[in-house]
Amino acid sequence: MAERVVLAYSGGLDTSVGIGWLADATGKEVVALAVDVGQGGEDVDDIRQRALDCGAVESVVVDARDEFAADFLMPALKANALYQKRYPLVSALSRPLIARHLVSIAKELGADSVAHGCTGKGNDQVRFEAAVAALAPDLTSIAPVRDLALTRDKAIAYAEEHGLPIQQSKKNPYSIDKNVWGRAVETGFLEDPWNAPVEDLYEYTQDPDEYREADEITLTFEAGVPVAIDGQSFDPLDVVQELNAVAGKHGIGRIDIVEDRLVGIKSREVYEAPGAVALIAAHEELEALTLERDLARYKRGVESTWAELVYDGLWYSGLKRSLDVFIDDTQKHVSGDIRLKLQGGRAVVTGRRSEQSLYDFELATYDTGDTFDQSLSKGFIELWSLPSRISAKRDLKSA
Ligand code: ARG
Repeated sequence: MAERVVLAYSGGLDTSVGIGWLADATGKEVVALAVDVGQGGEDVDDIRQRALDCGAVESVVVDARDEFAADFLMPALKANALYQKRYPLVSALSRPLIARHLVSIAKELGADSVAHGCTGKGNDQVRFEAAVAALAPDLTSIAPVRDLALTRDKAIAYAEEHGLPIQQSKKNPYSIDKNVWGRAVETGFLEDPWNAPVEDLYEYTQDPDEYREADEITLTFEAGVPVAIDGQSFDPLDVVQELNAVAGKHGIGRIDIVEDRLVGIKSREVYEAPGAVALIAAHEELEALTLERDLARYKRGVESTWAELVYDGLWYSGLKRSLDVFIDDTQKHVSGDIRLKLQGGRAVVTGRRSEQSLYDFELATYDTGDTFDQSLSKGFIELWSLPSRISAKRDLKSA
């Protein structure tokens, strides 16, 4: 029996041609796997059929949207995960999920390898292959675009020659990746970092400069996870989708950055992630109310390490796993309500409350009812500054 390879299939030109290309170059049978992470667009049955029409021996479609929201987006939210303080890891979160499905289909159908359509210049190749290595060390990874010289021109020629059912009618000048957590746009005229993004780059967000009445919503969290909007219960996927709609309407979550890729290149990226940005703003604020000071301070460092690990393709690493245990433990009191005002590209917290709140009105107030004993501060500062006082005296003596 011929060896098999499972290809992460998007339905686009590169991976459609990739099916025949892989088969020709390796002699393996190609199984196509399309994973729905909320990218929208085409009907999954059309995608499934196209893979078969392009020569796949089997074609599998997995609806992984709930799994993506529960197992990848919620951990990212608990970590307030923003790479370089701004990028909510849209693509970086989907790759380890797709890899998990590649591995399970490979095991199920007896494949010895997996394949993906990434180039050799980006982060996504690393994320796929590092995840596969960690989950199934015996599988090998093949990247036709990178390893088998499948260029865009060759792909177009191949598709024409073999009459593959792919419309190349309107060629998109951008490289786009999207899922329910957001949308990433790169290349084209954006490669000049001085060029401003234009309005038609965006799909999840409306122009924030167009005037619209503000929306005000109340988000309820339980142990770090959003469970309701305005009192109505939602599961994680629905919360993200609802917020994409309402925050997207106000142009929230547009991000334009120069980003440090793992392979050493600086690249200009435009993202839109309305739900993610609004949720992280709300979640951070609830933590401000419910986490004790030192835990909150320490967690900020953990958050940036977590985001860098995930960005760098190390979702299934020992350090990431251990940080998850820490982060989960921090979330046990992160329950309560956050009121958000959405308008003009910004999600602003205007109210917060929690049964688990550490905010003590009687300690904080400057009005009557104050229970804070100010006389204690004098001695506290005396001891707190003692090391500074002692060393300053020494320095004065030796000066
Ligand atoms: N630069 C982003 C990242 O590394 C987005 C990558 C988007 N992928 C794509 N094929 N357009 O996460």
